[in-house]
Amino acid sequence: MTVGRPILDRSASALAKGYAWLPDLRRRNPGPLLRTRVLGRQAAALRGPEAVRFFYDEDHVRRAGAMPEPVLSTLFGHGAVHTLDGPAHRQRKDMFLSLLTEPREVAELARHAAECWDDAVEAWAERPSVVLFDEVPRVLTRAVCAWAAVPLGPDDTDRLASDLVAMVDGFGTAGPRHWRARAVRKRRERWLEDLVERVRSGHATVPTGSVVDVIAKHRDVDGRPLDRHTAAVELLNVIRPTVAISWFIAYAGHALHRWPHLRKRLRHDDTPYAVAFAHELRRFYPFAPYLGGLAATDLRWQDEDIPADTMVLLDVYGQHHSDELWDQPYAFDPDRFLDVPPGRDELIPQGGGDRSTGHRCPGEDITVALLATLVPRLARLDYDVPDQDLRISLRRLPARIRSGFVLEMACSGA
Ligand code: HEM
Repeated sequence: MTVGRPILDRSASALAKGYAWLPDLRRRNPGPLLRTRVLGRQAAALRGPEAVRFFYDEDHVRRAGAMPEPVLSTLFGHGAVHTLDGPAHRQRKDMFLSLLTEPREVAELARHAAECWDDAVEAWAERPSVVLFDEVPRVLTRAVCAWAAVPLGPDDTDRLASDLVAMVDGFGTAGPRHWRARAVRKRRERWLEDLVERVRSGHATVPTGSVVDVIAKHRDVDGRPLDRHTAAVELLNVIRPTVAISWFIAYAGHALHRWPHLRKRLRHDDTPYAVAFAHELRRFYPFAPYLGGLAATDLRWQDEDIPADTMVLLDVYGQHHSDELWDQPYAFDPDRFLDVPPGRDELIPQGGGDRSTGHRCPGEDITVALLATLVPRLARLDYDVPDQDLRISLRRLPARIRSGFVLEMACSGA
């Protein structure tokens, strides 16, 4: 069968239905491959570990030209590593991997985050209540900027934290959230371009080997340094997603409230359990809904034709909630990851395949380490959860807890 016949364009439906869009379509059209239309193109949606391997084969799916402009202008930035293919991608990706996967560096960032968290908690104890989703971005902004050598003045943290959250919050909507995200990205790109210029000209100094230093000196596959705009985009591609881990920490508050028995186990500083908890947070709660690329050539998937240039979508949320892959997918159960580490192409909240050859997120070790450091700290705090709107709408892209998760501190327990 080919994708030849006209199908209604589903872009509006994709935005309106959010995370449920592809799972709903699949329920109505069972089979290995879903055909639809988005952004004026034919689209084919897949899921499951075999589909992940198919999607991450560079001979099958390319990224150049695949990313919608609104996503580039808010979330990733024009010229970002996400949009590269082949040797150009490999060379840029090596830079990210060298910065983000060295265990000593990951531990160092986690140490900064723990310190910033402990400082923040002391101040929370003085206030009647705090909103976790407002506070954690500040903690992570301070930590990641100190670690990456991005200089911050004493009054800069709150505004930067709110700008970084806005860039993530505005990618999947057409309204004011989106326009704010575009505006803050432009402003923050200019700010970091200036930093890169000052470091390159010797007017500012940063430690050798720091994130700012490495990006400022990086040479692309053509042997030339990154232009100042691309350097700023890639610097943001380290600090923005680190702050986005706040989404999962707020979700952790939600999980500990809904399933309080899990809190006891987390309180006792058991690292393997905290890591399993981090994996379950990333599986269970909604963040990246699906991933997309373009068919590099005419393809065939499980006896179905996918013509060149079709948009190929990997249904991340659907895969994480498929009962073909998970026992009781709608149960929050960290134990499922306790003795069995997640399969490379089964748990894909940050992409699948091999991170050194494909587009899988290079920040996964950092994400798991920060969650395993901060979530047990949250579990050890003594707080009450007042009445609030704890709903998480799957129609909102990206989803988030409506109230942001308000807590009333009894006393500091960190
Ligand atoms: C790529 C998710 C944290 C840096 C990605 C991708 C996803 C993702 C879905 C795209 C995979 C693909 O296109 O196939 C997340 C989530 C995070 C997170 C949910 C936690 C909230 C981080 C962190 C960093 C980071 C902490 C850096 C410190 C990147 C970069 C890429 C990427 C540079 C592009 C990789 C490439 O194109 O080769 N991430 N990420 N991410 N992520 Fe993350």
